[in-house]
Amino acid sequence: MKLLVTGGAGYVGSVTSRLLLDAGHEVTVLDNLVTGFRAAVAPEATFVEADIADAAQVLTPGSGFDAVLHFAGLIAAGESMVKPELYWHDNVVKSLALLDAVRAAGVPRFIFSSTAAVYGNPVELPITENAVKAPTNTYGATKLTFDHALTSEAFAHNLAAVSLRYFNVAGAYISGGHEIGERHDPETHLIPITLQVAAGKREKLQIFGDDYPTADGTCVRDYIHVQDLARAHLLALDAATAGEHRIYNLGNGNGFSNKQVVEVAREVTGVDLPVELAPRREGDPATLVASSARAREELGWVPEKNTLQAMIGDAWSFYRSHVA
Ligand code: UFG
Repeated sequence: MKLLVTGGAGYVGSVTSRLLLDAGHEVTVLDNLVTGFRAAVAPEATFVEADIADAAQVLTPGSGFDAVLHFAGLIAAGESMVKPELYWHDNVVKSLALLDAVRAAGVPRFIFSSTAAVYGNPVELPITENAVKAPTNTYGATKLTFDHALTSEAFAHNLAAVSLRYFNVAGAYISGGHEIGERHDPETHLIPITLQVAAGKREKLQIFGDDYPTADGTCVRDYIHVQDLARAHLLALDAATAGEHRIYNLGNGNGFSNKQVVEVAREVTGVDLPVELAPRREGDPATLVASSARAREELGWVPEKNTLQAMIGDAWSFYRSHVA
């Protein structure tokens, strides 16, 4: 297939581009490099440095793209509570412009990076796709809004749309001479921050809140290896069906508290990470654990690297060779 990957210079977009190219697809990456890295773009991909709001430059009527995979967007739940206007603008306004370009160019399929953050504090665990959607942060609200736009687009204009709701992505792709991993500046995510501390780049780790209604009082998250997540995109491309908006949660169904993550990071890195308790971060749901039963049944998705040791181990290898 001829594919347009927005955000292909970012973490999940660059790993997925690698798998798409290895599967024989033709990939064009569209990325404005505001948060992405040019070096993360696969050399075999065509690279266009542009904003998704200007996607019509690439998605011209005769361009013949078979699908758009839309990764580009802002992703930090905490930041979205402080600068909500940025999130509404980038994740909704610009994504709608992309969707206009998709419609005008007659692209039949669209795969969207949605998020577990659309659910907010779940009423029941694990979280299925039918659970109540009540985001506790602006980030989740913007992603849910675009999910709704895709539902109407599929219905009205026959788009084959798939939203993949990622839980907490971790690890790196290390295979066949390729090493692709996570790099954010500034970093806000728990696992890469523990690695910065382990590498001596940051003095200590702060744990945001220990008074949540969880076993040890810290938030619980479901971690998924980026390689397993990327594979799900290839399955979603095959499953996409005209006129339908399919939605799949992607996680392992195992919750790890922030304190447990730090313990595994200590084990993997061999560094006794200094930790300080800090106040809660605004907008954090207490527990997010996925039911991915639908993805397993309908897409045939089977995660292969489902231990936190494997994820933090791969993230640590990538961090030491490419980031530290
Ligand atoms: N945390 C700390 N200290 C830090 C950083 C994070 O205690 O220095 C805590 C957070 O408060 C939260 C947990 O670690 O309790 C995980 O936080 P992250 O920032 O790593 O990830 P989030 O769960 O906030 O969000 C991530 C992605 C989203 C995605 C979500 C899905 O950033 O894009 O997972 O669960 F939607």
